[in-house]
Amino acid sequence: MYRFFDYYHNEVHLSFEDHPFSTNPKHVLVLCRYEDKWLLTKHSDRGYEFPGGKVEENEMAKDAAIREVKEETGGIVTSIEYIGQYKVMGKEKIIVKNIYFAMISELIKQDNYFETLGPVLLQEIPQAVKKDKQFSFIMKDDVLKRSLQEIKKRIFK
Ligand code: GTP
Repeated sequence: MYRFFDYYHNEVHLSFEDHPFSTNPKHVLVLCRYEDKWLLTKHSDRGYEFPGGKVEENEMAKDAAIREVKEETGGIVTSIEYIGQYKVMGKEKIIVKNIYFAMISELIKQDNYFETLGPVLLQEIPQAVKKDKQFSFIMKDDVLKRSLQEIKKRIFK
């Protein structure tokens, strides 16, 4: 397990074991690939980030992941794999998020991308993402770096 602090100095625990913090996490983050690029969304306030959000009542986390990708990017998920989980000890509450890796077959234009401005395709995630104002705070801690390493290890072998 990895322990570190996020952009707002909240403590984060990250693990690539099978659901170590919660069997039913209420949040999801989805690292998406579309045509050999990373597919992100542009959140209206936070900036570029991988799609994700909250799991609804009576919804499975994986279904929430598929739904959020569609809502925030128009992306259709063809395969999705659980990668890991992290827990953020926020000032007000503790949240647990599942991390997924998804392959996207097509991008369907949406009339509305919820709280986001829609899809953003990147060849690479910049090395200096932590200092880049265009990127969301959720992309600025070790969750991103370690998850990309884990995906590389498992999927791109
Ligand atoms: P509401 O319950 O709708 O009011 O949600 P909220 O605005 O309180 O946000 P949410 O429940 O999604 O998250 C609570 C806090 O957890 C946020 O203010 C963030 O500080 C933190 N948080 C959420 N997602 C992440 C994440 O992916 N990474 C990090 N480091 N912190 C996160």
